Order: sequence, then C-alpha cells, then structure tokens
Amino acid sequence: MQKKILSIKSKKNKSKIVCLTAYSKNIASIIDKHCDVVLVGDSLGSVLYNFSSTKKVTLDMMIEHSKSVRMGLKKSLMVVDMPHNTYRNSKEALKNAKKIISKTKCDAVKLEGGKKVFKIIKTLIKNKIQVMGHLGVLPQSATSFKFKGKNITERKNILRDSKLLEEAGVFSIVLECVESSLAKEITKIVRVPTIGIGASVYCDGQVLVTDDLIGLNEISARFVKKYSNIKKHINNAALKFKQDVTETKFPSKKHSY
Ligand code: KIV
Repeated sequence: MQKKILSIKSKKNKSKIVCLTAYSKNIASIIDKHCDVVLVGDSLGSVLYNFSSTKKVTLDMMIEHSKSVRMGLKKSLMVVDMPHNTYRNSKEALKNAKKIISKTKCDAVKLEGGKKVFKIIKTLIKNKIQVMGHLGVLPQSATSFKFKGKNITERKNILRDSKLLEEAGVFSIVLECVESSLAKEITKIVRVPTIGIGASVYCDGQVLVTDDLIGLNEISARFVKKYSNIKKHINNAALKFKQDVTETKFPSKKHSY
C-alpha cells in the first residue's frame, strides 16, 4: 500500500487529518503544505459552474481540474471524486477510476454510498485502486440536505454502511452532515479514519470546501466556518486597478517596455 495512504491511516487515534478541496493549481499549491489530503471534489459543479447539483459534473471536468490540481501539489495525498453515473457497476467504475488515475496521477478516488457501492469498491480495491468512502448526506443522490442520523433507521443504516465500507477496504470515510453522537460512535467503531464535514469534532479529521473557507463562495451552511474574506481583497485590488487605469497611473514606466 502506498506510503501516503498508510500515513493517513496511521493518524487514527493519534492526530487529526486535515483535508481541503482544490479545483486548480494555484489554490492547490497554497493549501498543500497545510493539508494531509487534498480533494478534487465534485462540489466544483455548484461552486464553479453554478450547477443546481453535482449530478451534472462529468468525468472530463473532473479530469481537467484534477490535472491542474496535480501541478500544485507536492506532499498531500490527492483524492479525486468519481462523478455521478460513472460508477453504476463494477466494470464502469473500474474503467473510469483507471482513467482518472492514469490521466491525473491522483492517489485515490472517492465514491458516495455504502451498501449500494460495496461490491464496486471491493472491485476497485482488488485492482489496487485506493478508495475513500463517503456517507451521510450524499450530494450525488440527495433529495434533502438535512443532516443524517435523526431516526433509528437512518442511524442503523449509516452505521451498517460504515462497517461495510471498512470491510470493503476503504482507507478513510467522509461523513457529511452526520449527527454528532452517531459520528462519534462510527469513529469509535471503524478502524479507518473518519473525515467529517458537518459531522462534529469527534471525527478523525475535517474537510471543508476551500472556496467556502476563504469566503469566495457564498454559502450559509451551519458547518462552514469562514476563515478569510478573500472577496474583499479581490474587490480592493480590482478597484485600485480601475482607479490607476482611469487616472493613467498604470502602467507606469516600470511596467512598460
Ligand atoms: O465534493 C466535495 O467537495 C466533497 C466534500 C464536501 C467532502 O465531497
């Protein structure tokens, strides 16, 4: 098993895993030194392309963005989301996962779901493809984005699915919008690290969408903490540029040939 994967797994019960998303080289190169895992998430569909859901994201979109991200990464483990309808059966999943890995040189792929994708994940892993699982709110199939774990059936299913994913051989599991005590229980029971997004501090690591973290994407979800207001800085720079251009202060001799 890859050294980087082993290092992520060995963090369980020792130190927290830091994961952020990137869709391009420039952002990837900034966050790389602070992250253990960089995820090329299919959230790029809503964040960059204004799609109403991630369902419209294509394999080619993921590959092109991932190629850009690859150029910006030196140390982090790179995971790429397999988009909707690219892993409907084992054969399709294997073909597409191989394509993602060969074109982007990523370290692993991420698939949404539990019982439904159990066999598919097993096939990928049998073929030496590293897989990150994803449970809780599953944006590729969700009809509601309300947190998961409110009732007994939901809790039982997510707990069952997390055990199944572990059995299938995933190296970690993203828990998206999972009620705190359930996330705590899963994290205690499964031997692979859990990475939470809106799933409490009890997870073995945390992931956020970088565009949300830096205040570039307008989102008002409870689980998002805005660590910066990059919009303000871009606005100020554009305004100063406009002033300099209109007042013929730019370009000066220094910026001319
Ligand atoms: O697509 C994505 O960015 C994700 C994270 C939110 C976990 O799946």
